[in-house]
Amino acid sequence: MARSWDAGRRGAGWGQEGAGVGRRRELGLRTMAMHALVGKLTNQHEMLLDSLDESLQPFAEIRDKNLPAPPNPEQIARPLLRWMQREFLPHLVEEEDLFRPYFMPTEEGEALFASIGGEHAKLRKLLRQAREEINLLLGKASIRQAWWDTVDLSTLWAFRRALSEHIEFEHRHVFPKVIALDVNAPSPGREPGAAPAG
Ligand SMILES: [Fe+2]
Ligand SMILES: [Fe+2]
Repeated sequence: MARSWDAGRRGAGWGQEGAGVGRRRELGLRTMAMHALVGKLTNQHEMLLDSLDESLQPFAEIRDKNLPAPPNPEQIARPLLRWMQREFLPHLVEEEDLFRPYFMPTEEGEALFASIGGEHAKLRKLLRQAREEINLLLGKASIRQAWWDTVDLSTLWAFRRALSEHIEFEHRHVFPKVIALDVNAPSPGREPGAAPAG
């Protein structure tokens, strides 16, 4: 039985329609690859937010006075530092590496890539600040009580907000754009601006 993707070939000379079929197939494969990439990043975002919330939970409980501050903060601070180093920072690098080849060939893409870079720089800065605060908590027993008394002012909360806003920006603006840029990108060997074959 003929499959629907085979229909374009029937009744036509192979030589005439071969390029069009090839272009459509290439586009189909590229679209699938792009959707897989976007799906992978979407999963990563969900996991990142879940694991961050898990690590922040004890800090939030202490902030909201549901739990007393622990005498030794190591147990709750270490998972958060590990999340920053092992999950969050590698995600930014991976995302930049994955997006770069799709965005850089066009002016529009280059501008969007620059705005992603700007947002990542803002997140890295907030992260550095939050990490310094946590290291103060771990390092200086003399300021520990004061630290917990002002935990509601910690950069941790600003970082959490900025991260979820950034993820929303990526889902709403970046992912649809990267799919559109990829589908409209010329095939290798095709003249830029040439009418699509087929
Ligand atoms: Fe990002
Ligand atoms: Fe991301």
